[in-house]
Amino acid sequence: MIKFLDLARQNSEITSDVERKFAQIHHNTSYIDGPQVAEFEAEFAAYLSARRVIGVGSGTDALRLALIAAGIGAGDEVITVPSTFIATAAAIIQAGATPSFVDIDPMMGTMDPRALASYLEAGRFRSKNGPRAIVPVHLYGLPAAMNEIGEIAKQFRLAVIEDACQAHGARIFSAGRWKMAGAIGEAGCFSFYPGKNLGAWGEAGAVATNDEGIAERVLRLRNHGRMSHFAHQDCGYNARLDTIQAAVLSAKLKRLDAWNARRREIADTYRHLLIDCDLQTPNHLDDVESSYHLFVIRSQRRDAIRQALLENQIECGIHYPVPLHLQPALRSLGYNAGDFPVSENWSDSILSLPIHPHMQDADVTQVVKTIRSCLEPKASTPIVGNPVSTGEASFARG
Ligand SMILES: Cc1ncc(COP(=O)(O)O)c(C=O)c1O
Repeated sequence: MIKFLDLARQNSEITSDVERKFAQIHHNTSYIDGPQVAEFEAEFAAYLSARRVIGVGSGTDALRLALIAAGIGAGDEVITVPSTFIATAAAIIQAGATPSFVDIDPMMGTMDPRALASYLEAGRFRSKNGPRAIVPVHLYGLPAAMNEIGEIAKQFRLAVIEDACQAHGARIFSAGRWKMAGAIGEAGCFSFYPGKNLGAWGEAGAVATNDEGIAERVLRLRNHGRMSHFAHQDCGYNARLDTIQAAVLSAKLKRLDAWNARRREIADTYRHLLIDCDLQTPNHLDDVESSYHLFVIRSQRRDAIRQALLENQIECGIHYPVPLHLQPALRSLGYNAGDFPVSENWSDSILSLPIHPHMQDADVTQVVKTIRSCLEPKASTPIVGNPVSTGEASFARG
């Protein structure tokens, strides 16, 4: 069996670190708001070169609270992409706003700045106040085109709230220096769902920002709108980061760069070994460094490749088989099939291959061998219907 992700191997690297921290937490019974939370926040802020990081309960909390803290609410529209996990749009709705979609770049899979510009220029908006913010998604760990999106945001006076839930440690070269994904816009939102590059042992998330006003509002909102124990400025949420999750995250953060480096090595190997195959591997750009949360290939024979992998005990996944504008939960937004052809085409052709820091070279070779055998002319494997059946990798929720 070749696993999509091996969390047990990751855990074995951090056990002694975490056990020491857990002993302190249990001794102090500081399960809520223990000192490990502020410690992790400071460490992650330093890692991102962001002024502030506020730990929250999940990536969805991070997006919702960052949007509310940036002043987004009822009557506002927030522009994002259909090619993402549902939480991106759900958080916009939870903040009281209306999501609207623009299509993705056919080569990169992230928000197409040209589509964004034409949508804004056309001026046919979907809510009373029109667009107030953009949520670019750094999908699969690949940073969106932040330079171009930033220019457009400036021109139309929109906030940029990054969905960096899949992009811990990804970077983009901008204005003469490398910037960390999630620390470029007004706020960046991270998920620490266990399967992420930086994953907790349960639910967790964080907002990164250089804006003190946003930081203070998120800080209040995550903790029932509290100013002091019994004084509440807002009706906030219970969206705090657990102390024990913060302890796990601190231990893993020390290893994140090494783990991401190994992911990049595996991605390069896949790219090299698949170069002459009739499929697309993720585009490589010199000024963008993906964290390869997922390694996603595209092929018209996706279903046949997927079946061959599963038959050979190789876990794989589809992220995501249904673009958001076609999800039943978002039907009320009024979109139809055909509205975002690039996103729809990606959903029909993408396949996520196993990639994780503890994956062996021999496993990478085996995955490639299986793909190659299936793409050879003799292969005429029937197409399978349900893309989320048994054997599908489940640790990459988003
Ligand atoms: C792109 C994206 N946005 C948002 C989320 C939501 O994060 P969480 O599951 O921690 O709420 C995820 C991950 O699950 C994600 O991948």
